[in-house]
Order: sequence, then C-alpha cells, then structure tokens
Amino acid sequence: MLRTPVDHRDDDAPGSFGRFGGRYVAETLMPVVLELEAGWNAAWADPDFRSDVARMLACWAGRPSALSPAPRLAQALGTAARVWLKREDLNHTGSHKINNCVGQVLLAQRLGKRRIIAETGAGQHGVATATVCAKLGLPCVVYMGAVDVARQQLNVLRMQMLGATVVPVEAGSATLKDAINEALRDWVAHPHDTHYVIGSVMGPHPYPTMVRELQRIIGAEVRHQLHAEVGKAPDALVACVGGGSNAMGLFAEFVADATVALFGVEAAGCGLHDRHAATMARGSEGVYHGMRSRVLQDDDGQLLEAHSISAGLDYPGVGPEHAWLHECGRARYLAVDDAAALAAALQLARSEGILPALESAHAFAALPEVLATLGFDRGRGEGRDVVVNLSGRGDKDMPTFAAQLLARPETP
Ligand SMILES: Cc1ncc(COP(=O)(O)O)c(C=O)c1O
Repeated sequence: MLRTPVDHRDDDAPGSFGRFGGRYVAETLMPVVLELEAGWNAAWADPDFRSDVARMLACWAGRPSALSPAPRLAQALGTAARVWLKREDLNHTGSHKINNCVGQVLLAQRLGKRRIIAETGAGQHGVATATVCAKLGLPCVVYMGAVDVARQQLNVLRMQMLGATVVPVEAGSATLKDAINEALRDWVAHPHDTHYVIGSVMGPHPYPTMVRELQRIIGAEVRHQLHAEVGKAPDALVACVGGGSNAMGLFAEFVADATVALFGVEAAGCGLHDRHAATMARGSEGVYHGMRSRVLQDDDGQLLEAHSISAGLDYPGVGPEHAWLHECGRARYLAVDDAAALAAALQLARSEGILPALESAHAFAALPEVLATLGFDRGRGEGRDVVVNLSGRGDKDMPTFAAQLLARPETP
C-alpha cells in the first residue's frame, strides 16, 4: 500500500519523501551508497566535521551571504510588500553550489576517497567542485553535456584553469541528464576510490537529504537576517527549481512553519505546449537517476529531452522532496518561459544593479504571479516580506544576454 506523503517524511524513514525518493542503483553501487549514507550520518553528527564545513564556508567561500532589500524592484512590481534578495550570487564561484561542494568534498576526504567526479549543467556546480578540489588537492573529473559545453564556455575555461578534466558528453540531448548518466557510469566503474559529488537534491538516498542539509544554511541565514531587520519571519519564499537544491536550501528551515508560503519556479522554456523543463506542470511519476520522483517521460518511460534557455534548469527531472512538497500542497510550483526570464534579468539589472544568472531570473519572472497569489499586488502587502533566492550571478550568461537582449533594437 502506498503511504500518503504527509504522514511519511525522511525524518522517520531515511530517504523517503512520501512514496518519492528511495535508492535505485546498480548492484555494484549499493554497498558504496550504503557506505556513503553511514559516512554522512556519522560526519553530520560530528561537531568537528560540522565546524570544518562552517569554517571553510566562512573563511574561504564568503558566508554568510547578504540579504539585500530590493525597494526599486518592489516599486516596479507594484507591491507594498518588502522584497528581499538572498545573495547566493556573492558566494565564492558565484552561486549556491559551493555550499554543497564544500561539504561533500570534505566528506569524501574523511571517507578516504581520492578521486572526485561531478556532473554539471550550467557549469556552476562543476566550477564549484573543481574549485574545492583545487583547494584540497584532489583530482576532479566533470561530465558536461556537449550542448552545455558550447553555451557555458566561460565555466568550461574556469574548470580547466582550476585543473579539472571536463568531459563533454555527446549522448542523448547532450545536456544535464546525459552528463548525470555518464557520471553514474564512471562511479559504477570506480566505486572504491571515487566520490560522486551530485550537484542537487536528487539521485539515490542519501543525496537528496545530504544536499538539502548542506544547503539549509541559506534559509537558516534568512531566518536570522530577516529577524534582525524586521523582527519577523518571511511571508513567502521564492526560488528557481532545476534539480531543486537552492530552493530546498531556502525552504528547509521553513517547511514546518505553515505561515510561510513556498514557491518553486521551473522553466517553461518555449512554452508548456512546446519544449520545456516543467516537471511539476507536465511530468509524471517515474524512477530514474537512482530515485523515484516526477519526470518528463514518454509512454515507454524513456526520459524526454527538456528545454530551457538556462542550462541549470534544463533537466527533465526534479528532486524527490519537491515532488512530495508539490503532491501534499505544501509548496506551489509555477513555470515561466525563456522570454519572461530574460525580461526579468533585465529588470533586476536595471532596478537593483544586479545581473542574475538565467536560472535565478526565473524566480524573479514569477514574482508578479507570486504577489498576485498572495494578495500583495496592486499596492497591497504593506508590512509583508517576500524573499527571493538570487541563486547565482549572471556573468556566465553574458553571451546569451548579448544575443537575446542587447542585440535587439527593442531592448531599451
Ligand atoms: C545559479 C544557479 N541557480 C540554480 C540552478 C539550478 O539548480 P538547483 O535547482 O539544484 O538549485 C543552477 C544549476 O546549475 C545554477 O547554476
């Protein structure tokens, strides 16, 4: 019998979010994944390990990240609510991905793994992994779809400069899902000396839980910072969702607090009736990449190609905890298309002086709908607080911005 999502979270059954999550891996990997789970549980319960992670995040990666008020953006959106930006773009390497990489590579060291592999879409997770490996002196191989290699050249060069080997993956749609397949193949071939740093809250248990815990610092800081500013908790949190790690990192602290509305924003690409990456809006339940979650698939259960202008959201799946939050209605998931994301990036640049990553721009593009849903639009929302996760900076997307926005005469 299937359990209902609400009565069953990973707190009481490790790795299970309702009926989502789990551990679906090849036989050769099972002992390695079990070893990882035991190693992670022991490390996370060890105050010395946690203080090593916290210290590296503070002294090297630049935490805590700022919480910036965005009054000109709020004015442009016509809301009386205060809009706040959680500035993960200010972290070392330019996104939230570093939080997870610091924790996982320190864990790999503790477990005696001498080789690190990773997959990457936008390149931010690959850069973050390569950066931590350089700092700790570990060899690093990053699998990246050939399409993403072409559209995220700057990040490929950064990884190479940091000493990582970038392996372009030509199979399938040559994007993130294919890079994950290739990384899993590498891991199966080298189970004993290699740690696979998965870049989001996805994959077999313990990854969704482990990555969420390593990203939880985002929401924990928000709680603290907002309290210091206005003496209260936020009313709503908004984050883009690829695999879902920046969103889970922001949400985790507040899931149990029903007064805080949670909004995840996925990529509608060219539109929900065209090519997109809207797993919540258009996906269905399936087992892939080591987990049970929602996924874009055909009638035979084959993964469909996703599309988004942002490489980091161009993934046909989503982490299992999001599938659960969606199903039990605790979080709402919206979808915005490529054009809306581009326009939102321009609006943020010109209202707040910040160039966001294209991934993060999706969260901003959803703000009009979020504000309307909350009743904070049309000059309403006085005394209310909406926090948007600015998951990364836009430098890597300059070629896309240049081609799609700056080259167009209609761009003001
Ligand atoms: C800046 C940025 N934001 C968001 C994402 C999406 O990943 P996630 O949903 O795991 O936060 C990526 C992925 O590469 C990214 O680079």
